[in-house]
Amino acid sequence: MCGIMGYIGEENATEIIISGLEALEYRGYDSAGIAVYSYEDIICKKCIGSPAELKEKTSELYSNIGIGHNRWATHGRADEINAHPHLSQNGIFAVVHNGIIENYEKLKTELMDKGYNFVSETDTEVIAHLIEENYKGDLKGAVSATLPLLEGSYALAILCKDYPDTIVCAKRSSPLFVGTDSNSAYIASDISALTQKSKRIFRLNDGEIGLLTKDSFKVYDTDGCRIKKSEIKIKNIENNINKDGYEHFMLKEIMEQPASIRKTLSEIFDGRKIRFKGLKWSANDIKQINNVHFVACGSAYHAGMVGAYVCTELFKRNSTAEIASEFRYSNPCIDKNTLIVIISQSGETADTLAALRIANEKNAKVISIVNVENSTISLESKNTIFTKAGPEIAVATTKAYSAQLAAIYSLVLYLAVISGELKKIEAVKYIDELKRIPEKIETILNQNIDYKTLSEKILNSEYICFIGRNYEYCTVMEASLKLKEISYIPCEAYAAGELKHGTISLIDKNSLVIALCCSDRLSSKTLSNVNETKARGAEVLTVVTKKISGDIIIPETIEIYYPLLEIIPLQLLAYNTALIKGCEIDKPKNLAKSVTVE
Ligand code: F6R
Repeated sequence: MCGIMGYIGEENATEIIISGLEALEYRGYDSAGIAVYSYEDIICKKCIGSPAELKEKTSELYSNIGIGHNRWATHGRADEINAHPHLSQNGIFAVVHNGIIENYEKLKTELMDKGYNFVSETDTEVIAHLIEENYKGDLKGAVSATLPLLEGSYALAILCKDYPDTIVCAKRSSPLFVGTDSNSAYIASDISALTQKSKRIFRLNDGEIGLLTKDSFKVYDTDGCRIKKSEIKIKNIENNINKDGYEHFMLKEIMEQPASIRKTLSEIFDGRKIRFKGLKWSANDIKQINNVHFVACGSAYHAGMVGAYVCTELFKRNSTAEIASEFRYSNPCIDKNTLIVIISQSGETADTLAALRIANEKNAKVISIVNVENSTISLESKNTIFTKAGPEIAVATTKAYSAQLAAIYSLVLYLAVISGELKKIEAVKYIDELKRIPEKIETILNQNIDYKTLSEKILNSEYICFIGRNYEYCTVMEASLKLKEISYIPCEAYAAGELKHGTISLIDKNSLVIALCCSDRLSSKTLSNVNETKARGAEVLTVVTKKISGDIIIPETIEIYYPLLEIIPLQLLAYNTALIKGCEIDKPKNLAKSVTVE
């Protein structure tokens, strides 16, 4: 969601903050702003759009201390007034905020009764006014008095005119990192914005308040006691955020999938042996698992759907995929014999994190599949499998999704073998084929498929419906999300057998049905559903293997692995459709890469 960047040191804070905001842009980008201390005052500049727009407005603004923000609107439109930083009424404090203050209306009313005027529609403005209200000359005291009044989530950076050498930061439920170097200190909501600048990186925990000067970083707990922070061991943080000649990050990331799957598998497999470092479950622990829930949001949930099918098939336990935002409020019946598999690229998704906390509280067995090291989900999980997709910059996930699938397959094979549900000899077939998948993806990527013509079919249709069964149903869910996200074309995904239970009434000559028909077991069933739509005039686009005729032909594999192959041409189809439409592919409107609010 929103991105926070702060700097204090000897260089030009304005430049450093804006370049940091540019690096964090994928987190939220409807508007941006910066506040610096300059000529004994706090100067605030804001813009609609990306932080690049701020450059012109701040070319004259020189300072050694400041805070900045990329906004992803939650309360109030994306305009300059609602953009952060927000100033207190007396102009002494500037605040940037990531998160949502859930009781802001009540706080706002109380503050208005005390004579405060609000200029924005945001929830954040109450924080600036509350700090002013609680300020008796002691900055830390004012922030400490304010935080307990806030309900909801926040990562905050605060500047105060009376403390021209200090930035205050605090957090609850939204990530915030501090980086220090000799004579400089940084704050950012994403560790990747700090790794090139700071020698030492610290993660602020919920309830802590940090005070930064250019040469000190002091942290206090909720009782106001000074605490010692350990620095984060930074390993394996890649900073390759170049397009490497591709027009978009999304296309680059689609092309990187064979490599990222290979890398993910190479961390897990030693020959045909599956090893999860740090996982301490005995064979008996695993045998005692009696049901499995894959919990995640968005595309990661679609990966979880695949997980549920494959877990039921190979581990032979009742397995479900759960949408994290639903799961967290569903009073789930889980206990020590339930396995919860949490899936998250960013490791920061608010709903997924809440689901993890519930699973931990209820003492379930938990394992998380996460792409970003040092992310909150990875730190709060007793067991984590790291996917090795590297930084994913395009908002619409591609390579992280397929790496999640690779990790899920490996995990399920491990559980199935250790529990004795899958004989080792049978597992060999699955393991060998999983390792062949990257090569088969390369074949698809190198195929000469006329995506442009296929995209025209999409663009010429009034109603688009993706259909598939079982594993192919999971894939159509993901394919339709990809198309919606980046091309803004309304479409839906259906379990092929469900179509005739209502939705077929939408099918006519202006419809396009995109059907996945690769499964040996189920393709004839799906093709029957395709024929039902053709009979009603629909145009059809099929993904098949060479066994039957169709529009996109992909290599054959074992049924469980089709999700990894079939999604590739559908990612490219979505990409090409968005390209023809001239959409902003890497940063689709209204979306953010890391969804840290509910
Ligand atoms: C879609 C997409 C989102 C994410 C979802 C969960 O392309 O990227 O649907 O999959 O927001 O994000 P993570 O995996 O970071 O928890």
